[in-house]
Amino acid sequence: MAPSGSADLVIVANRLPVDRVTLPDGSTEWRRSPGGLVSAIEPVMRANDGTWIGWPGGTETDLEPFEDEGLDLVPITLTQQEVEDFYEGFANATLWPLYHDVVAKPEFHREWWDAYVAVNRRFAEEAAAVAAKDATVWVHDYQLQLVPQMLRELRPDLRIGFYLHIPFPPAELFQQLPWRRQLLEGLLGADLVGFQLAGAAQNFVRLVRQRVGHKTHRDLVYLPDGRTVRAAAFPISIDAQGFEDLARSEEVSQRAKEIREAVGNPRRIFLGVDRLDYTKGIYARLRAYSELVVEGELNVEDAVFIQVATPSREQVEQYRILRDDIDRLVGRVNGDLGKIGRPVIHYLHSSYPPEEMAAFYRAADIMAVTPLRDGMNLVAKEYVACRFDNDGALVLSEFAGAAEELRQAWLVNPHDINGMKSAFLEAYRADDKEVTRRMKAMRKTVKQNDVAAWAESFLTELEAGRPSHGKSVRPPNRS
Ligand code: F6P
Repeated sequence: MAPSGSADLVIVANRLPVDRVTLPDGSTEWRRSPGGLVSAIEPVMRANDGTWIGWPGGTETDLEPFEDEGLDLVPITLTQQEVEDFYEGFANATLWPLYHDVVAKPEFHREWWDAYVAVNRRFAEEAAAVAAKDATVWVHDYQLQLVPQMLRELRPDLRIGFYLHIPFPPAELFQQLPWRRQLLEGLLGADLVGFQLAGAAQNFVRLVRQRVGHKTHRDLVYLPDGRTVRAAAFPISIDAQGFEDLARSEEVSQRAKEIREAVGNPRRIFLGVDRLDYTKGIYARLRAYSELVVEGELNVEDAVFIQVATPSREQVEQYRILRDDIDRLVGRVNGDLGKIGRPVIHYLHSSYPPEEMAAFYRAADIMAVTPLRDGMNLVAKEYVACRFDNDGALVLSEFAGAAEELRQAWLVNPHDINGMKSAFLEAYRADDKEVTRRMKAMRKTVKQNDVAAWAESFLTELEAGRPSHGKSVRPPNRS
């Protein structure tokens, strides 16, 4: 296929950076999707006049490439059947649980796989069509693991990077997949495969050696055609300064006060913020907290738990079951232990703009981030970025990628309810000096390794292996 496009940098991700929203009057508009990926990639996109290929979330078929706030966006259309088989099915009921330590049972269906192949091909063909000669294409996440190889077959001139935002499982779990070899070969179409943690990159290289039979040495895979693929860790981060600026603003300070007042100005506010996902450990966390209230270690006058749970993947059965379980648990706990005007748990099943999130982070004394498995967990980093007074305690799961960097958090095993209860109490009772010592250290880490540094290090590494005649991608301007 001859190069026909003009984009020197192409981002390929399951979602576009904007969602199509239908307004009450039936008209539609594009709204910036929240989330780390967008803020991570946007500065690089702007510096390079990039093009972003992704799914806008619905099943509309009338969408043409368009520009939004200076970004070139190319929508990919999915049929209703593809939404069910590719997105809800293979991506979120096969790969998602499998890659998260099988905390829910992955389902294997051949028709879901067929849809995954077909949709990945559509993304690859679109990328091949828009990329200029020798362009750089950066493919994101588990929904699109076949794209690198498909794209390389169409456009061998391209420099292709792939980044996995979620964990990559150990061989013992990965090899359950009937299509394990195809996925590994799909990823090997990239020149650089990035992971959150070094352990994930090692899992991948080991699997390639065992299952595909390629020679490997440390983080390199040697392909029979002479190409070399590198697998390495690039821990993702957030726009730390952006969050801090938001948290310092007058509006957010005021709103944080209002939130504290609205929940009765208790001595301590505990906070959980998650997509409503079974990997996030919300159920066990709320159980641990409520047991402390039953046992009289905490009481509803002094402490409250605010749990924000953002609706997610609501058509997938496991997510519906989880929602019912949490609804029941919160109802029971508040019914049994709450008092008039003093519920044990304030449960908010809703999503909020960044300003409101920053206000929650400022209002909370103890942040509980206790996933059973998580690639990174940016909420933990957002909380730290917002605590510019160096106060606030973070209780963090050992099984979140963020635990490798935020060593000064109260680290917990989220399967160990008693351990979690002890950590909550320790964080609750910790003196200011201890809290400040820990938060100061974590803030240094988050500020140094922000999202611009992440994007820059991935792209610099990707370009480093490029044959000298090629083009190169400009890193974003760092503030
Ligand atoms: O980080 C994992 C991820 O699936 C991202 O790819 C995605 O943007 C986010 O979680 C939200 O999930 P979804 O796109 O399924 O709503």
